[in-house]
Amino acid sequence: MTAAEPPATTAAGAPEHVPTRVFPDAEPASVWVAGEIAALVRERASLDRPCVLGLPTGATPISVYAELVRLHREEGLSFANVETFNLDEYYPITPDELQSYHRFMREHLFDHVDIDPKRVHIPDGTVPADRVAEYVAAYEEAIRDAGGLDLQLLGIGRTGHIGFNEPGSARDSRTRLIFLDRVTRRDAASDFFGLDLVPRRAITMGVGTILDARRVVLIAFGEHKADVVAQAVEGPVTARIAASYLQQHPAATVVLDEAAAAGLTRYRSPWLLGPVAWTDPLIRKAVVWLARKLEKPILKLTEEDYNEAGLQDLVAGRGPAYDINVDVFRAMAETVTGWPGGKPQAMKRPGDIDRPADAVFPKRVLVFSPHPDDDVLSMGGTLLRLQEHGHEVHVAYQTSGNLAVFDADAIRFAEFAQDFNRIFAISPEEAAKIERHIEDQLRRKRPGQVDSFEVRRIKTLIREGEARAAARVCGIPVERLHFLRLPFYETGTVRKLPPGEADVAGIAALLEEVKPHQVYAAGDLTDPHGTHRLCWQALQQALARVKGKRWFRDCEVWLYRGAWQEWEPERMDMAVPLSPSEVVRKRDAIFKHQSQKDRAMFPGPDEREFWQRAEVRNREAAKLYDRLGLAEYEAIEGFVRWKAIAG
Ligand code: F6R
Repeated sequence: MTAAEPPATTAAGAPEHVPTRVFPDAEPASVWVAGEIAALVRERASLDRPCVLGLPTGATPISVYAELVRLHREEGLSFANVETFNLDEYYPITPDELQSYHRFMREHLFDHVDIDPKRVHIPDGTVPADRVAEYVAAYEEAIRDAGGLDLQLLGIGRTGHIGFNEPGSARDSRTRLIFLDRVTRRDAASDFFGLDLVPRRAITMGVGTILDARRVVLIAFGEHKADVVAQAVEGPVTARIAASYLQQHPAATVVLDEAAAAGLTRYRSPWLLGPVAWTDPLIRKAVVWLARKLEKPILKLTEEDYNEAGLQDLVAGRGPAYDINVDVFRAMAETVTGWPGGKPQAMKRPGDIDRPADAVFPKRVLVFSPHPDDDVLSMGGTLLRLQEHGHEVHVAYQTSGNLAVFDADAIRFAEFAQDFNRIFAISPEEAAKIERHIEDQLRRKRPGQVDSFEVRRIKTLIREGEARAAARVCGIPVERLHFLRLPFYETGTVRKLPPGEADVAGIAALLEEVKPHQVYAAGDLTDPHGTHRLCWQALQQALARVKGKRWFRDCEVWLYRGAWQEWEPERMDMAVPLSPSEVVRKRDAIFKHQSQKDRAMFPGPDEREFWQRAEVRNREAAKLYDRLGLAEYEAIEGFVRWKAIAG
């Protein structure tokens, strides 16, 4: 066992109080969970008994439902003996609304399998307020009448909620009407196209209702869940984190992808659990962990520091401490480069190290940006440098990002276009017609309703104009900007389609056209709305298509972390420092994305705007390098080299 491969299931000694299985990513995890459900359904069918399932909604179970549908279509899994009870529903809401869990379940599961609609139960968001008490009691009774839940599937909210049992929910709570937590409402804001439109209440099964299930499986995917998962699995049982009650269930399992498991001790500091095989990345991780814990620079860590923190094994095998310190220090210092595209031999100074990237200069560089602002948000400083060093920099904007544009902006630009056309006498009738249509559409639009094609086009133009303005700040010529408008994004709702042939083919064609020496892409383990993950999936498939090509042999693929987080310092393979004036130029570039300013629509967990978060994160990365004793810069952008194909 190595820490690069921590045990897939809870190991002896781990402080995990619920058996936990970790999969490399969400897909095999979902296949495993669907397989467990299918096995149970089949077993009950063979006994001629019904199978009663408790089901969640949300982003997480979508891939489990997709696999169940596949099993039904391709492997004859029948739902004829299945009875289901959903965990929750917003209140008030009608079943046909875009965000209703009735609609969600039909779209993702029930419309595609042979379940008897009479055996489907989902809390009703239309029950009159004075009948809710009676209604929820009947819901509980219906579960009991069905023989109780055989298996309850759960997701987990960032508040630690299961169902909508928000912090403070009692262990013996039953199905009831609750008020949603602020964080939960914010997380749902993009589904509802605005925080104000998210219902304040919901009907949810209680913690007691959930714990009565004979088996419980909780799934969580993505780095934004890592903290709460660690608290639920390793922390105390507490009403503050409803999911921690699963520790008291005799047959509960937690199923995670590696991103969601990152906060567990077996990933964060596996050496505390027993002997590990010390690989270079693991040594780096341990040393950075120790230096941060003791707030000491790497080179000042002593034998005692290692021994007292549970790293005796490391010093005994690889010591003395000073040698370990120096090795890690050197490796990390070498990651710092102001020349992300390599440094031409002619510019080298004595003491400069030779890097493989120096061999070709200048380079063709292709930056993939999932939304139109991710390029400058995540690697604006690096973009500036690449361009200034004379490389041929292209940026491909993968999606239009039109969902995140306010209606008022669409009207403003439609007016602008009309005035522009009038001034320059360009078919005024046609322009007026379009403007009237836009105004009319937006006036009649109900909250949360999908935009018309025309409105989406205008919103797309707004974002593309902003991307061009930002790229101009970075000095990138507009003819090297590529707006891919990938079809998977164009649903008009936050739910995206899985990337298909058209998405992959579009990206592969661009790769083939540019033949880049370097590719930069967003390598988030998961962003809250899944767009980055899907963009990365599509890009990986496109890279697989070009991997046999001659030009691709020397192509480096670098991953920047999306807008939400920075790579941990020990994982960075390249740290690009920004000077104070580059920080200001990067900010200027981000400011060009005016439609994304003050977006109450997708406020981050800390309510700061995107530019502030980007700046804080770059400055913090630099501070961390400084505290580790490496170098003191104004700000740093970090990258991880992707080796799955290239290397
Ligand atoms: C949904 C539900 C919630 C979600 C949780 C995670 O029916 O009960 O507890 O499971 O909010 O949501 P996602 O999966 O969207 O992160």
